[in-house]
Amino acid sequence: MDNAILVTGGAGFIGSNFILQRLSRDSSCIVNLDKLTYAGNLRNLESVAREKRYQFVRGDIGDRGLVRRLLERCAPRAIVHFAAESHVDRSIRGPEEFIRTNVDGSFALLEETRSYWSGLSEHDQAGFRFLQVSTDEVYGSLGADGPPFSETTPYAPNSPYAASKAASDHLVRAYHHTYGLPTLTTNCSNNYGRFQFPEKLIPLMILNACQRQPLPVYGDGRNVRDWLYVEDHCSAIATVLERGCVGETYNVGGWNEKCNLEIVETICDLVDQLMGAGGTSRRDLITFVKDRPGHDRRYAMDASKIERELGWRPAETFETGIGKTVRWYLENETWVRDVTSGAYREWIATHYSS
Ligand code: NAD
Ligand code: TYD
Repeated sequence: MDNAILVTGGAGFIGSNFILQRLSRDSSCIVNLDKLTYAGNLRNLESVAREKRYQFVRGDIGDRGLVRRLLERCAPRAIVHFAAESHVDRSIRGPEEFIRTNVDGSFALLEETRSYWSGLSEHDQAGFRFLQVSTDEVYGSLGADGPPFSETTPYAPNSPYAASKAASDHLVRAYHHTYGLPTLTTNCSNNYGRFQFPEKLIPLMILNACQRQPLPVYGDGRNVRDWLYVEDHCSAIATVLERGCVGETYNVGGWNEKCNLEIVETICDLVDQLMGAGGTSRRDLITFVKDRPGHDRRYAMDASKIERELGWRPAETFETGIGKTVRWYLENETWVRDVTSGAYREWIATHYSS
């Protein structure tokens, strides 16, 4: 494949949005390496499954033989590394898989990438990029008035998920400094949009609100996150991939801090508008439940570096993005039915049983 990009974890929420956006906006060829865990869903990519510029390979980033053969065969000009275990609550219940994929898997991928990259011509080595898709959670928790995270904020991860992402970010940094691998890292705030697995706050609340199920808000609902529409995250990654300075880190965010209760109330009002309230506001379904252990109070992102140096800013406001998202979940019943069976049901039953 000419002009190929290897995407890991491309059947997940952000990866599949990224693949669809790239195939529609430029001439890249995409090879998608995904293990298809509970979070991977090939339905997201049905519309491009037969495209010549797209290829799916089922496999684990930790399978070094497979990764080696894939790199030799596809000769990518870049790797965009999304593959991860990504849910904080699951990392609290079972951290092992997070270490296996996010730390050991990323290490295996980096080792094979280093070996592949070392064998390239000087010209191709200079053009190659490894982009690590990371999160704001590696920076830890902010107080109510603290300045937002910048690229120089020290890492202070608090959950097993955040710690495993921090470890892989450090490995990426080390592979640049030690071996000269041309890496880029993006740290992004909370994403929302189509294809997000409904274990995460926004899709969980949309689906529960539709079915008039309780809306479980952790603690006092005052924890603050910065929210970014997923397509904006994807365009930020593409911008960094094409124009980012090798070895650098870029914070990506929506300039959009909101507490969880405000998010849930907004969703209730939108679902009431779209489905009809029937005399009782869905806000009545809000139920305060036991807090997440070690729950970070506030995340906020200073995304001025990517704007100043690369000219990227989000295109959507929270109001436009959440409107599109709620409508998408209401209009895509088959997708929802597909993911809300099996493993998903078990997770909901165990996690919210108390
Ligand atoms: P997701 O859980 O929806 O998708 C993860 C994908 O990785 C799935 O398709 C899964 O099958 C695949 N995968 C898991 N283990 C694998 C392995 N060992 N080998 C190959 N594939 C494997 O996650 P997401 O929300 O799309 O997040 C993607 C990336 O972006 C992650 O690295 C995450 O840390 C980061 N990120 C997410 C957010 C967010 O709000 N969701 C914000 C910032 C950064
Ligand atoms: P989540 O979507 O899991 O993302 P993250 O933990 O990566 O920020 O959660 C977003 C916020 O919503 C977080 O503060 C936890 C909270 N939350 C609830 O209050 N109830 C829920 O059922 C879930 C899943 C999350």
